[in-house]
Amino acid sequence: MQIGVPLEVRAGERRVAATPETVKKLAAFHSVHVQAGAGLGANVTDSEYEAAGAKIVATADELYASSEMILKVRGLEEQEFPLAKKGTLVVGLLSPHDRDRMEAYARHGLTAFAMESIPRISRAQSMDVLSSQANIGGYKSVILAANAYGRFFPMLMTAAGTVKAARVLVLGVGVAGLQAIATAKRLGAVIEAFDVRPAVKEQVLSLGAKFVEVPLQEGESAETAGGYAKEMSEDYKRKQAELIHSRAVQSDIVITTALIPGRPAPVLLKEETVKAMKHGSVVVDMAVEFGGNCPLSEKDRVVEKSGVTLIGYTNLPAMMASDASSLYARNMLNFINLLFDPKSGELKINREDEIISGTLVSMNGELVKK
Ligand code: NAI
Repeated sequence: MQIGVPLEVRAGERRVAATPETVKKLAAFHSVHVQAGAGLGANVTDSEYEAAGAKIVATADELYASSEMILKVRGLEEQEFPLAKKGTLVVGLLSPHDRDRMEAYARHGLTAFAMESIPRISRAQSMDVLSSQANIGGYKSVILAANAYGRFFPMLMTAAGTVKAARVLVLGVGVAGLQAIATAKRLGAVIEAFDVRPAVKEQVLSLGAKFVEVPLQEGESAETAGGYAKEMSEDYKRKQAELIHSRAVQSDIVITTALIPGRPAPVLLKEETVKAMKHGSVVVDMAVEFGGNCPLSEKDRVVEKSGVTLIGYTNLPAMMASDASSLYARNMLNFINLLFDPKSGELKINREDEIISGTLVSMNGELVKK
Protein backbone atom coordinates (compact mmCIF):
# COMPACT_ATOMS: atom_id res chain seq x y z
CA MET A 1 0.00 0.00 0.00
CA GLN A 2 1.09 3.54 -0.71
CA ILE A 3 0.95 5.45 2.59
CA GLY A 4 1.19 9.25 2.77
CA VAL A 5 2.07 11.49 5.72
CA PRO A 6 1.14 15.13 5.02
CA LEU A 7 2.22 18.29 6.80
CA GLU A 8 -0.61 19.22 9.19
CA VAL A 9 -2.39 22.37 8.07
CA ARG A 10 -4.44 23.24 11.19
CA ALA A 11 -3.07 26.42 12.81
CA GLY A 12 -0.72 25.60 15.69
CA GLU A 13 -0.68 21.87 14.97
CA ARG A 14 2.97 20.87 15.33
CA ARG A 15 2.44 17.13 15.64
CA VAL A 16 2.94 14.62 12.86
CA ALA A 17 1.22 11.25 12.41
CA ALA A 18 4.33 9.15 11.71
CA THR A 19 7.88 9.29 13.03
CA PRO A 20 11.06 7.71 11.64
CA GLU A 21 10.50 4.85 14.10
CA THR A 22 7.04 4.04 12.72
CA VAL A 23 7.99 4.83 9.12
CA LYS A 24 10.73 2.21 9.34
CA LYS A 25 8.20 -0.40 10.45
CA LEU A 26 5.64 0.63 7.84
CA ALA A 27 8.27 0.72 5.08
CA ALA A 28 8.99 -2.98 5.63
CA PHE A 29 5.60 -3.78 4.01
CA HIS A 30 4.44 -0.57 2.35
CA SER A 31 5.74 2.36 0.42
CA VAL A 32 5.76 5.54 2.54
CA HIS A 33 5.70 9.11 1.24
CA VAL A 34 6.22 12.03 3.62
CA GLN A 35 5.52 15.63 2.66
CA ALA A 36 8.61 17.85 2.92
CA GLY A 37 8.75 19.53 6.33
CA ALA A 38 5.93 17.41 7.80
CA GLY A 39 7.99 16.53 10.88
CA LEU A 40 9.72 19.83 11.54
CA GLY A 41 7.18 20.99 14.14
CA ALA A 42 8.06 17.84 16.08
CA ASN A 43 11.80 18.24 15.40
CA VAL A 44 11.99 15.46 12.81
CA THR A 45 13.89 16.36 9.64
CA ASP A 46 13.19 15.11 6.12
CA SER A 47 16.54 13.32 6.06
CA GLU A 48 15.58 11.32 9.17
CA TYR A 49 12.43 10.16 7.38
CA GLU A 50 14.49 9.29 4.30
CA ALA A 51 16.94 7.29 6.41
CA ALA A 52 13.94 5.36 7.79
CA GLY A 53 12.86 4.41 4.27
CA ALA A 54 10.40 7.14 3.27
CA LYS A 55 10.38 9.13 0.07
CA ILE A 56 10.02 12.89 0.55
CA VAL A 57 7.53 14.59 -1.76
CA ALA A 58 7.48 18.35 -2.18
CA THR A 59 3.80 19.26 -2.01
CA ALA A 60 0.48 18.16 -0.51
CA ASP A 61 -0.95 17.78 -4.04
CA GLU A 62 1.73 15.26 -4.94
CA LEU A 63 1.40 13.44 -1.65
CA TYR A 64 -2.38 12.99 -1.85
CA ALA A 65 -2.22 12.10 -5.54
CA SER A 66 0.15 9.21 -4.83
CA SER A 67 -1.42 7.92 -1.57
CA GLU A 68 -3.92 5.13 -0.97
CA MET A 69 -3.82 5.75 2.79
CA ILE A 70 -3.29 9.08 4.54
CA LEU A 71 -2.06 9.27 8.13
CA LYS A 72 -3.16 12.47 9.85
CA VAL A 73 -3.17 14.02 13.28
CA ARG A 74 -6.14 16.34 12.61
CA GLY A 75 -8.98 15.50 10.26
CA LEU A 76 -8.98 16.83 6.72
CA GLU A 77 -9.52 20.57 6.35
CA GLU A 78 -11.71 22.04 3.59
CA GLN A 79 -8.73 22.52 1.27
CA GLU A 80 -7.51 18.95 1.78
CA PHE A 81 -10.72 17.10 0.84
CA PRO A 82 -10.42 17.75 -2.92
CA LEU A 83 -6.81 16.50 -2.88
CA ALA A 84 -7.67 12.99 -1.66
CA LYS A 85 -8.55 10.44 -4.36
CA LYS A 86 -11.81 8.49 -4.12
CA GLY A 87 -11.30 5.32 -2.07
CA THR A 88 -8.37 6.73 -0.06
CA LEU A 89 -8.19 5.55 3.54
CA VAL A 90 -7.85 8.43 6.01
CA VAL A 91 -6.87 7.77 9.63
CA GLY A 92 -6.68 10.55 12.25
CA LEU A 93 -8.48 12.59 14.89
CA LEU A 94 -11.50 13.31 12.68
CA SER A 95 -13.97 14.78 15.26
CA PRO A 96 -16.52 11.96 14.83
CA HIS A 97 -19.26 13.82 16.69
CA ASP A 98 -19.27 16.48 13.98
CA ARG A 99 -21.89 15.01 11.63
CA ASP A 100 -21.25 17.49 8.80
CA ARG A 101 -17.57 16.59 8.79
CA MET A 102 -18.33 12.88 8.70
CA GLU A 103 -20.68 13.43 5.77
CA ALA A 104 -17.86 15.21 3.96
CA TYR A 105 -15.70 12.06 4.17
CA ALA A 106 -18.53 10.04 2.68
CA ARG A 107 -19.29 12.65 -0.01
CA HIS A 108 -15.69 12.56 -1.16
CA GLY A 109 -15.75 8.78 -1.43
CA LEU A 110 -13.23 8.22 1.37
CA THR A 111 -12.85 5.40 3.87
CA ALA A 112 -12.24 7.16 7.16
CA PHE A 113 -11.30 6.03 10.67
CA ALA A 114 -11.70 8.36 13.67
CA MET A 115 -9.02 7.58 16.24
CA GLU A 116 -11.03 9.28 19.01
CA SER A 117 -13.47 6.37 18.85
CA ILE A 118 -11.00 3.60 19.68
CA PRO A 119 -12.94 1.60 22.28
CA ARG A 120 -11.54 1.61 25.83
CA ILE A 121 -10.81 -2.14 25.89
CA SER A 122 -7.50 -3.74 26.86
CA ARG A 123 -6.73 -4.97 23.32
CA ALA A 124 -6.93 -1.38 22.08
CA GLN A 125 -4.81 0.28 24.76
CA SER A 126 -1.77 0.51 22.50
CA MET A 127 -3.92 2.40 19.94
CA ASP A 128 -5.58 4.76 22.41
CA VAL A 129 -4.66 8.21 21.15
CA LEU A 130 -7.00 10.00 23.56
CA SER A 131 -5.05 8.51 26.45
CA SER A 132 -1.58 9.10 25.02
CA GLN A 133 -2.35 12.72 24.22
CA ALA A 134 -4.39 13.48 27.36
CA ASN A 135 -1.45 12.25 29.42
CA ILE A 136 0.75 14.87 27.77
CA GLY A 137 -1.92 17.55 28.17
CA GLY A 138 -2.25 16.80 31.88
CA TYR A 139 1.49 17.18 32.40
CA LYS A 140 1.75 20.38 30.37
CA SER A 141 -1.24 21.96 32.15
CA VAL A 142 0.64 21.82 35.44
CA ILE A 143 3.86 23.15 33.93
CA LEU A 144 1.93 26.09 32.44
CA ALA A 145 0.17 26.73 35.73
CA ALA A 146 3.45 26.64 37.66
CA ASN A 147 4.95 29.09 35.20
CA ALA A 148 2.04 31.53 35.48
CA TYR A 149 1.81 31.25 39.28
CA GLY A 150 3.92 33.84 41.05
CA ARG A 151 4.81 31.55 43.94
CA PHE A 152 6.48 28.26 44.74
CA PHE A 153 4.71 24.92 44.38
CA PRO A 154 6.58 23.09 47.16
CA MET A 155 6.63 23.97 50.83
CA LEU A 156 10.02 25.43 51.66
CA MET A 157 11.66 26.04 55.01
CA THR A 158 14.34 28.66 54.56
CA ALA A 159 16.39 30.93 56.79
CA ALA A 160 14.09 33.72 55.66
CA GLY A 161 11.04 31.81 56.84
CA THR A 162 8.63 29.18 55.59
CA VAL A 163 6.93 29.21 52.19
CA LYS A 164 3.57 27.46 52.03
CA ALA A 165 2.95 24.75 49.43
CA ALA A 166 0.62 25.61 46.56
CA ARG A 167 -2.88 24.14 46.76
CA VAL A 168 -4.01 22.55 43.51
CA LEU A 169 -7.57 21.49 42.69
CA VAL A 170 -8.05 19.09 39.77
CA LEU A 171 -11.58 18.85 38.35
CA GLY A 172 -12.12 15.76 36.22
CA VAL A 173 -9.83 12.84 36.90
CA GLY A 174 -9.57 10.87 33.69
CA VAL A 175 -6.22 10.32 32.03
CA ALA A 176 -5.31 14.05 31.92
CA GLY A 177 -6.45 14.70 35.48
CA LEU A 178 -4.44 11.78 36.86
CA GLN A 179 -1.29 13.00 35.12
CA ALA A 180 -1.96 16.54 36.37
CA ILE A 181 -2.17 15.19 39.92
CA ALA A 182 1.03 13.16 39.52
CA THR A 183 2.91 16.14 38.05
CA ALA A 184 1.69 18.63 40.67
CA LYS A 185 2.64 16.10 43.36
CA ARG A 186 6.18 15.83 41.98
CA LEU A 187 6.42 19.62 42.21
CA GLY A 188 5.39 19.46 45.87
CA ALA A 189 1.84 20.85 45.77
CA VAL A 190 -1.02 19.84 48.07
CA ILE A 191 -3.75 18.43 45.84
CA GLU A 192 -7.50 17.89 45.94
CA ALA A 193 -9.44 16.31 43.10
CA PHE A 194 -13.06 15.86 42.09
CA ASP A 195 -14.82 13.72 39.49
CA VAL A 196 -18.41 12.60 38.99
CA ARG A 197 -17.23 9.01 38.71
CA PRO A 198 -16.66 7.69 42.25
CA ALA A 199 -14.57 4.87 40.75
CA VAL A 200 -11.60 7.24 40.43
CA LYS A 201 -11.40 7.89 44.18
CA GLU A 202 -8.94 5.05 44.73
CA GLN A 203 -6.66 6.27 41.92
CA VAL A 204 -6.69 9.81 43.33
CA LEU A 205 -5.77 8.56 46.81
CA SER A 206 -3.03 6.32 45.43
CA LEU A 207 -1.38 9.41 43.90
CA GLY A 208 -1.33 11.13 47.27
CA ALA A 209 -4.18 13.58 46.62
CA LYS A 210 -7.44 14.07 48.52
CA PHE A 211 -10.72 13.14 46.80
CA VAL A 212 -13.65 15.50 47.35
CA GLU A 213 -17.02 14.15 46.31
CA VAL A 214 -20.72 14.78 45.90
CA PRO A 215 -22.58 11.72 47.19
CA LEU A 216 -24.70 10.04 44.48
CA GLN A 217 -28.40 9.37 45.14
CA GLU A 218 -29.42 5.76 45.40
CA GLY A 219 -29.65 4.26 41.91
CA GLU A 220 -27.89 7.28 40.36
CA SER A 221 -24.93 6.45 38.15
CA ALA A 222 -22.26 8.78 36.79
CA GLU A 223 -20.66 6.46 34.29
CA THR A 224 -21.61 4.93 30.93
CA ALA A 225 -20.87 1.30 30.08
CA GLY A 226 -17.82 2.58 28.12
CA GLY A 227 -16.36 4.19 31.28
CA TYR A 228 -17.13 7.79 30.27
CA ALA A 229 -18.98 10.35 32.37
CA LYS A 230 -22.70 11.01 31.86
CA GLU A 231 -24.65 14.26 32.00
CA MET A 232 -25.81 14.57 35.65
CA SER A 233 -29.13 15.59 37.24
CA GLU A 234 -29.86 19.24 38.13
CA ASP A 235 -29.80 18.40 41.84
CA TYR A 236 -26.38 16.81 41.50
CA LYS A 237 -25.10 19.81 39.52
CA ARG A 238 -26.24 22.22 42.25
CA LYS A 239 -24.47 20.26 44.98
CA GLN A 240 -21.43 19.92 42.75
CA ALA A 241 -21.29 23.70 42.17
CA GLU A 242 -21.40 24.35 45.92
CA LEU A 243 -18.65 21.84 46.61
CA ILE A 244 -16.41 23.15 43.83
CA HIS A 245 -16.94 26.75 44.90
CA SER A 246 -15.91 25.97 48.46
CA ARG A 247 -12.77 24.09 47.33
CA ALA A 248 -11.75 26.50 44.54
CA VAL A 249 -11.69 29.57 46.78
CA GLN A 250 -9.19 27.74 49.02
CA SER A 251 -6.98 26.79 46.03
CA ASP A 252 -4.16 28.55 44.25
CA ILE A 253 -4.35 26.54 41.03
CA VAL A 254 -7.39 24.91 39.43
CA ILE A 255 -6.93 22.50 36.54
CA THR A 256 -10.12 21.45 34.80
CA THR A 257 -10.25 18.48 32.43
CA ALA A 258 -13.93 17.41 32.53
CA LEU A 259 -15.41 16.18 29.25
CA ILE A 260 -18.52 14.31 28.20
CA PRO A 261 -17.98 12.71 24.78
CA GLY A 262 -20.12 14.28 22.06
CA ARG A 263 -21.54 16.97 24.36
CA PRO A 264 -20.42 20.42 25.46
CA ALA A 265 -18.02 20.31 28.40
CA PRO A 266 -19.80 20.72 31.77
CA VAL A 267 -19.46 24.11 33.45
CA LEU A 268 -17.70 23.41 36.74
CA LEU A 269 -15.98 26.65 37.66
CA LYS A 270 -18.61 29.37 37.55
CA GLU A 271 -17.93 33.06 37.04
CA GLU A 272 -18.81 33.89 40.66
CA THR A 273 -16.38 31.21 41.84
CA VAL A 274 -13.52 32.70 39.81
CA LYS A 275 -14.40 36.14 41.22
CA ALA A 276 -14.16 34.72 44.75
CA MET A 277 -10.79 33.04 44.13
CA LYS A 278 -7.58 34.46 45.57
CA HIS A 279 -5.74 37.16 43.64
CA GLY A 280 -2.85 35.53 41.77
CA SER A 281 -4.59 32.16 41.38
CA VAL A 282 -4.29 30.31 38.08
CA VAL A 283 -6.91 28.29 36.19
CA VAL A 284 -6.00 25.97 33.32
CA ASP A 285 -9.15 24.99 31.39
CA MET A 286 -8.26 21.89 29.39
CA ALA A 287 -11.83 21.55 28.13
CA VAL A 288 -11.84 24.95 26.43
CA GLU A 289 -11.99 23.42 22.93
CA PHE A 290 -15.36 21.85 23.81
CA GLY A 291 -16.89 24.96 25.37
CA GLY A 292 -14.78 25.00 28.52
CA ASN A 293 -15.32 24.04 32.16
CA CYS A 294 -15.13 27.74 33.03
CA PRO A 295 -17.15 30.35 31.11
CA LEU A 296 -14.39 32.94 31.61
CA SER A 297 -11.62 31.03 29.85
CA GLU A 298 -10.98 31.86 26.19
CA LYS A 299 -9.78 29.60 23.41
CA ASP A 300 -6.03 29.78 22.82
CA ARG A 301 -5.64 32.77 25.06
CA VAL A 302 -4.30 33.59 28.50
CA VAL A 303 -6.60 36.14 30.14
CA GLU A 304 -6.77 37.74 33.57
CA LYS A 305 -10.16 38.17 35.26
CA SER A 306 -10.53 39.53 38.80
CA GLY A 307 -6.83 38.87 39.42
CA VAL A 308 -7.07 35.23 38.31
CA THR A 309 -5.06 34.08 35.28
CA LEU A 310 -7.09 31.78 33.01
CA ILE A 311 -5.12 29.64 30.55
CA GLY A 312 -7.17 28.31 27.63
CA TYR A 313 -4.83 26.63 25.19
CA THR A 314 -6.78 24.15 23.06
CA ASN A 315 -3.88 21.99 21.98
CA LEU A 316 -1.52 21.26 24.84
CA PRO A 317 -0.08 18.09 23.23
CA ALA A 318 1.10 20.19 20.25
CA MET A 319 3.18 22.21 22.72
CA MET A 320 5.16 19.03 23.33
CA ALA A 321 5.05 17.92 19.73
CA SER A 322 8.07 15.59 19.78
CA ASP A 323 6.84 13.27 22.52
CA ALA A 324 3.21 13.72 21.48
CA SER A 325 4.06 12.66 17.91
CA SER A 326 6.13 9.67 19.03
CA LEU A 327 3.26 8.30 21.11
CA TYR A 328 0.58 9.22 18.57
CA ALA A 329 2.55 7.61 15.74
CA ARG A 330 2.92 4.37 17.71
CA ASN A 331 -0.83 4.37 18.41
CA MET A 332 -1.41 4.82 14.67
CA LEU A 333 0.97 2.03 13.71
CA ASN A 334 -0.73 -0.41 16.08
CA PHE A 335 -4.11 0.54 14.62
CA ILE A 336 -3.02 0.34 10.99
CA ASN A 337 -1.64 -3.15 11.52
CA LEU A 338 -5.21 -4.19 12.30
CA LEU A 339 -6.31 -3.21 8.79
CA PHE A 340 -4.08 -5.78 7.08
CA ASP A 341 -4.38 -9.54 6.98
CA PRO A 342 -1.46 -10.82 9.12
CA LYS A 343 -0.81 -13.73 6.73
CA SER A 344 -1.26 -12.27 3.25
CA GLY A 345 -0.49 -8.63 4.12
CA GLU A 346 -3.56 -7.64 2.03
CA LEU A 347 -5.83 -4.79 3.12
CA LYS A 348 -8.74 -6.38 4.99
CA ILE A 349 -11.25 -4.16 6.75
CA ASN A 350 -12.96 -6.58 9.09
CA ARG A 351 -16.10 -4.77 10.18
CA GLU A 352 -16.80 -7.50 12.75
CA ASP A 353 -13.78 -6.30 14.72
CA GLU A 354 -15.05 -3.90 17.41
CA ILE A 355 -12.01 -1.63 17.12
CA ILE A 356 -12.54 -1.28 13.37
CA SER A 357 -16.32 -0.95 13.56
CA GLY A 358 -15.94 1.55 16.44
CA THR A 359 -13.66 3.85 14.49
CA LEU A 360 -15.02 3.50 10.94
CA VAL A 361 -17.05 6.60 10.01
CA SER A 362 -17.20 6.26 6.24
CA MET A 363 -16.48 3.37 3.88
CA ASN A 364 -15.93 4.04 0.19
CA GLY A 365 -18.34 6.93 0.34
CA GLU A 366 -20.98 5.29 2.52
CA LEU A 367 -21.57 7.10 5.82
CA VAL A 368 -21.45 4.55 8.61
CA LYS A 369 -24.34 5.37 10.93
CA LYS A 370 -23.53 5.29 14.64
P1 NAI B 1 -12.57 12.32 29.46
O1 NAI B 1 -11.46 13.07 28.82
O2 NAI B 1 -13.76 11.93 28.65
O3 NAI B 1 -13.09 13.18 30.72
C1 NAI B 1 -12.19 13.60 31.72
C2 NAI B 1 -12.78 13.35 33.08
O4 NAI B 1 -13.82 14.30 33.33
C3 NAI B 1 -13.42 11.98 33.28
O5 NAI B 1 -12.80 11.32 34.36
C4 NAI B 1 -14.88 12.30 33.54
O6 NAI B 1 -15.47 11.40 34.48
C5 NAI B 1 -14.78 13.69 34.15
N1 NAI B 1 -16.03 14.44 34.16
C6 NAI B 1 -16.99 14.52 33.20
N2 NAI B 1 -18.00 15.31 33.61
C7 NAI B 1 -17.67 15.76 34.86
C8 NAI B 1 -18.29 16.61 35.79
N3 NAI B 1 -19.47 17.16 35.57
N4 NAI B 1 -17.64 16.84 36.95
C9 NAI B 1 -16.45 16.29 37.21
N5 NAI B 1 -15.81 15.46 36.37
C10 NAI B 1 -16.41 15.21 35.20
O7 NAI B 1 -12.01 11.04 30.21
P2 NAI B 1 -10.81 10.10 29.81
O8 NAI B 1 -9.57 10.60 30.39
O9 NAI B 1 -10.85 9.90 28.34
O10 NAI B 1 -11.20 8.75 30.56
C11 NAI B 1 -12.52 8.19 30.46
C12 NAI B 1 -12.55 6.82 31.08
O11 NAI B 1 -11.89 5.87 30.30
C13 NAI B 1 -11.92 6.72 32.45
O12 NAI B 1 -12.70 5.82 33.19
C14 NAI B 1 -10.60 6.11 32.19
O13 NAI B 1 -10.07 5.47 33.33
C15 NAI B 1 -11.00 5.14 31.13
N6 NAI B 1 -9.91 4.68 30.32
C16 NAI B 1 -9.84 3.34 29.98
C17 NAI B 1 -8.83 2.87 29.19
C18 NAI B 1 -8.80 1.43 28.81
O14 NAI B 1 -9.38 0.62 29.45
N7 NAI B 1 -8.14 1.10 27.76
C19 NAI B 1 -7.79 3.76 28.67
C20 NAI B 1 -7.96 5.15 29.07
C21 NAI B 1 -9.00 5.57 29.85
